[in-house]
Amino acid sequence: VVVGVFDSGIGGLSVVKSLKRSKYFKKIIYYGDTARVPYGSKDKNTIISYSLEALEFFKNFDLELLIIACNSVSAYALEELNKNAPFPVVGVIEAGIEACNDLDKDKNILVIGTKATIESNLYKIGLEKKGFKNIIQLATPLFVPLVEEKIFDGPILKEVMKYYFNGIKTDYIVLGCTHYPLIKDKISNFFGGIKTIHSGEAIVKLLEKEYKLEKKFKSIKIEFFASSNPEQLKSIAKEWL
Ligand code: DGL
Repeated sequence: VVVGVFDSGIGGLSVVKSLKRSKYFKKIIYYGDTARVPYGSKDKNTIISYSLEALEFFKNFDLELLIIACNSVSAYALEELNKNAPFPVVGVIEAGIEACNDLDKDKNILVIGTKATIESNLYKIGLEKKGFKNIIQLATPLFVPLVEEKIFDGPILKEVMKYYFNGIKTDYIVLGCTHYPLIKDKISNFFGGIKTIHSGEAIVKLLEKEYKLEKKFKSIKIEFFASSNPEQLKSIAKEWL
């Protein structure tokens, strides 16, 4: 199976990591719109038009599926993408919500994401449908440039976590932005090591259910493309994958 993976930047690598581990895929075409990251602070129309431009790039390949490894795009552009794509396009939000199924619905659950994702309310609506009663939503956009700058640890990250999280009490945390798994342990530890829900792992489970996938590819070929500085993307990919 040849799949495309799209993110505004390097965050989608967290999804690639899970796809790679699954052995379901023969080849991944990754495209990060690093020239225009972040998407999450932009408005809906801008996110849709950037996403449709990315789709034109993916049309150059013979894809069986396009995975939108970006919550902000999944929140606003999935319908438009599916209308215009010659292959199915799946997002990460539905998968992220599905992955919360086995959690205790009476406990507190914190959803963090970009402004776009949080304002879309899609996680909140989905989690309410699942029976969660204590949902806290929080836009934490500053984590995105930190991750893009490879700041995965240290005093700046700590300060940003304090700035966003001080006073919040939660039992679970949904990483509603694909950049966040790269700092997953730091975020979890801030709350004393709580469970995090990660859309990369969730999307593999969802695809397993919806497509007949076979674990047959021992190795995977990944091609990386970026709208700016592809070398930086490749070097982070090398480290992270
Ligand atoms: N990684 C993306 C997401 O999941 C977007 C981050 C951004 O571009 O703001 O929302």
